[in-house]
Amino acid sequence: MKGNARRVLAVAAAAVTAFSMAACGSTSGSGSGSSSSGGSASSGTANKDKPVCWYNRQPSNSSTGELDMTALNFNKDTYYVGFDANQGAELQGTMVLDYIKAHKDEIDRNGDGVIGYVLAIGDIGHNDSIARTRGVRKALGTAVEKDGAIDSAPIGTNTDGSATDVQDGEIEGLKVRELASQEMKNSAGATWDAATAGNTIGTWASSFGDQIDIVVSNNDGMGMSMFNAWSKDNKVPTFGYDANSDAVAAIAEGYGGTISQHADVQAYLTLRVLRNALDGVDIDTGIGTADDAGNVLSDDVYKYVADERSYYALNVAVTADNYQDFTDATKTYEPVSNQLDASAHPSKKVWLDIYNAADNFLSSTYQPLLQNYDDLLNLDVEYVGGDGQTESNITNRLGNPGAYDAFAINMVKTDNASSYTSILSQ
Ligand code: BGC
Repeated sequence: MKGNARRVLAVAAAAVTAFSMAACGSTSGSGSGSSSSGGSASSGTANKDKPVCWYNRQPSNSSTGELDMTALNFNKDTYYVGFDANQGAELQGTMVLDYIKAHKDEIDRNGDGVIGYVLAIGDIGHNDSIARTRGVRKALGTAVEKDGAIDSAPIGTNTDGSATDVQDGEIEGLKVRELASQEMKNSAGATWDAATAGNTIGTWASSFGDQIDIVVSNNDGMGMSMFNAWSKDNKVPTFGYDANSDAVAAIAEGYGGTISQHADVQAYLTLRVLRNALDGVDIDTGIGTADDAGNVLSDDVYKYVADERSYYALNVAVTADNYQDFTDATKTYEPVSNQLDASAHPSKKVWLDIYNAADNFLSSTYQPLLQNYDDLLNLDVEYVGGDGQTESNITNRLGNPGAYDAFAINMVKTDNASSYTSILSQ
């Protein structure tokens, strides 16, 4: 609510300074052909030298997780913005573990001495998804090592505990078993697919019934789909990740908990690094060092890893104890909510894509935040929504990079950075 009010004010202020109303941004849906740019970039800078911010999907090898340093160093104004996947994964695992310990006496629904959980996996080639699977298995004692790291492969089903990618764990005398896990990919290839998760929980429930004591998901989109389809009625605690508003609200109805990846800080950083590069100021401006409007972040909400050219927001667990503080996921982060002056920071055009216009987290939390911050930072952002499956669906709409001053890129596949940089290098 507050975020909306602030946005209205920001737009009004922008209108007074004759700032283009197009700054509210527009979303071109998937499959809508080439984006119309309506204007041109304000500088004569070559496309290859324009600021680039990779966000949410870090350029990396989807099999090994190795960072794509060529993409991260595309030019001197290239950065990545995401969140600390390992810290968040550990928090998610600990949140589930703490819940089990606190409800030890009533959690085993069929009293067979085994706490059974099922796990919805987002994308087996996505660093964040891999980290979350590992974090949960590690905390619950079900992890096994493979090639020097925790095995994050989906197991299919594991009725009798014989799966080799996991093992049975033990928590305070109770056995813990991963009964089933699966990558939630739909038939067209879209990952983190909530509808697939909603269907799968039905299949799992008919195979395992009251052996399922806990449902865990790599994100809230899939978690809420399973909660609404099955676990809410069956009173089975379900844990997700992202702290989307609907998931936070569901905590009051029995959703077990979620993790805030501080999307309010990430969305700010995504646009802020571009703003700083366009202003030609130190990259830390408005981040670790207050800017001329007083925007600044404290180091308990983010970290910068210079070698990786990456900003990572820090995560916070959201449970029945504190969910009241997280009810509006689209509200800007107070310490960085001050409007920049339009004469000192004139309007610039930014091309920004979202890999899948139907992605729950990106469309319901991240994009509304970006739309609040673009006004505050005087950035005129063109939002392009992909289909979540094919990179070309998005790159086809980057036909006129000369029309933009900067780019924020969310890839379908983390290996595909060169599909974008090759366009900017032409
Ligand atoms: C979010 C997921 C989302 C994914 C998209 C992750 O950080 O937790 O909900 O689907 O990003 O890349």
